[in-house]
Amino acid sequence: MCGIIGIVGKAPVSERLVESLRRLEYRGYDSAGIAALIGGRIERRRAEGKLRNLEALLAEDPLEATVGIGHTRWATHGAPSVRNAHPQMAGRVAVVHNGIIENFAPLKAQLQAQGRHFESDTDTEVVAHLIDRELARGLEPVAAFKVALDQLSGAYALAVLVQGEESLVMGARRGSPLVVGEGQGEMFIGTDALGLGPFTNRIIHLDDGDFVAINHEGVRIFDRSGQKVDRALRVVPAASALVEKGNYRHFMEKEIHDQPDACQHTLSAYIDPISNTVASRGVDFAAIDRLQIVACGTASYAGMIGRYLFESLAGLQTDVEIASEFRYREPALRPGALALAISQSGETADTLAALRWCKERGIMTAALVNSPESTMAREVDVVFPTHAGPEIGVASTKAFTSQVAALTALAIAAARQRGRIDADEEARLAGVLLEAPRLIADAILDDGWIPAIAQDIAKARDVLYLGRGAMFPLALEGALKLKEISYIHAEGYAAGELKHGPIALVDEATPIIVIAPSDALFDKTSSNMSEVIARGGRVVLITDAQGATHAPDSVKTVIVPACDPLIAPLVFAVPIQVIAYQVAVLKGADVDQPRNLAKSVTVE
Ligand code: F6R
Repeated sequence: MCGIIGIVGKAPVSERLVESLRRLEYRGYDSAGIAALIGGRIERRRAEGKLRNLEALLAEDPLEATVGIGHTRWATHGAPSVRNAHPQMAGRVAVVHNGIIENFAPLKAQLQAQGRHFESDTDTEVVAHLIDRELARGLEPVAAFKVALDQLSGAYALAVLVQGEESLVMGARRGSPLVVGEGQGEMFIGTDALGLGPFTNRIIHLDDGDFVAINHEGVRIFDRSGQKVDRALRVVPAASALVEKGNYRHFMEKEIHDQPDACQHTLSAYIDPISNTVASRGVDFAAIDRLQIVACGTASYAGMIGRYLFESLAGLQTDVEIASEFRYREPALRPGALALAISQSGETADTLAALRWCKERGIMTAALVNSPESTMAREVDVVFPTHAGPEIGVASTKAFTSQVAALTALAIAAARQRGRIDADEEARLAGVLLEAPRLIADAILDDGWIPAIAQDIAKARDVLYLGRGAMFPLALEGALKLKEISYIHAEGYAAGELKHGPIALVDEATPIIVIAPSDALFDKTSSNMSEVIARGGRVVLITDAQGATHAPDSVKTVIVPACDPLIAPLVFAVPIQVIAYQVAVLKGADVDQPRNLAKSVTVE
């Protein structure tokens, strides 16, 4: 979840390390730090909290060097503090780390027994000690690094500086992402291509278990066993321009507005706009007897919407499970199934582990990912892309709608392959789906309804979201968005489930957001709404113009463009996101970097 960077440069590195950390700050922002080699010594600067605190420190106390490493932290072992900030040091060694060293406790005890003194509560400090111990035993740096790596279990990406080695940064990856970047007489390692964006787009993706040594001449790459190996260099699209906020106040606001483009772009990977045929990207859904979707958080809600579509359109049995549960039971999944991971980052630890579990059992794997170079994308049999572009706001918006758009397209393709629809119906459904970007844009423009409602919700302590059918996952998503960025407690429920318990929560102080397009389920949801109103509940109804005509006077309405039920999850996602965003802004919350969260959850 942390971001790491290492530079062997010709020009000063301090500012460049910070620039890269700024791009990686979405991964964690509990503390930040850099270390650099100066006259044969390692010096470091570390600050608790956001990167700006480190920048202020560097302004007072600069580091002038051309070789260095940097880190932005999402705390796992040890509270956020300067003492626990990275780089962690021991003797001649400084280390930055993303991941968790699972056996750090016995290693630490062993090192302490050998007289080594620890300064932090982190698991990372163990790595610095292990390398330093091997250096002290006379090994050269790469050999010392290998001996240390062989003792670690868990998931990690590391960058390492060694005192006395003026032109060397070492790195390793196991379970957490790390890439190498090639510049002009300079070399880089970092968490992802985005972090290296300002310096180079010539990127080498490492395999799991690889470790590397970079210097001014280039890179040496070794596999897990220590064999020198070559890995392909790719020129990735220059991402630098894509991660600016432009005129928006927050990345989340920008990314909400990016959604028509993101969906359009994603759909272009699936639908031929001339023939309105939908591609399944090489998968024969007729040969699949069950679809198992695994994902976490918002991506799992996209998966739940996907289930409605795959079952109703294609008659394909579909299960959705959060990856952290799936991986630790013994799912009765057999070859013949397709395991589909949904993930913006393509790096989420639990989702990746669930995929690997399936792969080991001979089950075909696919990943619907937004990061084409991610670990998931590289490990699965089939990649289904979303083209949302980099999503920086921690709360997912455009990645979610792009996932839903792609799943809708795939469900149409599956329906056709499985003989549930003919070519005319395929073309009709594709045409409906292609309207989604325009309707999403209309829903964004039409947000005049929301400020007054946001004022009201910002004062609430608890909020309930209700929906039926594909609107149920949206209710869950709405509640998640609100909690994560405005810190208001919120729950999403299936509207029909209300009277089985949650209705006891209904009182005048609890806003209830009902998501109900005027579709076949509208009357049912409307009855649930009446039950709430009868008990004094304050209802906000998100619906279309037709639905609004049925709203009682006491109900506040948010009206979105009328649309075909196929694309209602895409259009109705917009007010859900805008409400959460506006409430968070009213509350003065840190919208793009909410407390305790990180964008990419690469630890369990
Ligand atoms: C919430 C959110 C998270 C992610 C989840 C999975 O707004 O963004 O719930 O959806 O952490 O992340 P990815 O999609 O990267 O696997």
